[in-house]
Amino acid sequence: LFAAESQFLKGVVAMDGLPEADRLEVCFAGRSNVGKSTLINALTGTKALARASNTPGRTQEINFFTQGATHYLVDLPGYGYANAPLPVVEKWQRLLKKYLSGRANLRRAFVLIDTRHGVKAVDEEIMTLLDQSAVTFQVVMTKADKVKAAERDKILDQVRGALSKHPAAYPEIVLTSSEKSEGIETLRAIIAGLD
Ligand code: GTP
Ligand code: MG
Repeated sequence: LFAAESQFLKGVVAMDGLPEADRLEVCFAGRSNVGKSTLINALTGTKALARASNTPGRTQEINFFTQGATHYLVDLPGYGYANAPLPVVEKWQRLLKKYLSGRANLRRAFVLIDTRHGVKAVDEEIMTLLDQSAVTFQVVMTKADKVKAAERDKILDQVRGALSKHPAAYPEIVLTSSEKSEGIETLRAIIAGLD
């Protein structure tokens, strides 16, 4: 799947702008700045297909990328970011929630968790929404290069504890570093294996 090319299709700001649900779709959700756009670039082997930035709140639309002829990869706006005007934040959050609960071809949501921080209250909220919408989600730990093994293992225990309360959670956690290209091949194989 990832030998094929990836292209930016469109950025969507309202539900009626979503492309036709005619391909298998996976999305990348997570708190602002967790590394969603960077991860999409790593997966697709591109430097700047998805716009990544050190400024939280970089991705403000739902961005669709085609992967080969069969898949959509979806880069979502981050949640838990309070540094934009409130009406703007609320608009993104409403769209994000509608998307996550109402997309017929969404096969798996990847919920990204910073390996330094673990699962926060806003992550729990999204996980609960995914439970209610019966969308299987899988946690991807990001920025693994930033923590020592002992700290990482402690955080992983916290994440496992949190996941045990969510029926829609897929039990396997994927540890990644986009910086060091760790876990990227594993995640590609997971996506390619969905049907
Ligand atoms: P929003 O669009 O604002 O929600 O953010 P995002 O989740 O798309 O994060 P983005 O990919 O823009 O990355 C945020 C910052 O984290 C950037 O400065 C990235 O270079 C950095 N980053 C992302 N992944 C990694 C990683 O695996 N390791 C390290 N060290 N830095 C990373
Ligand atoms: Mg982004």
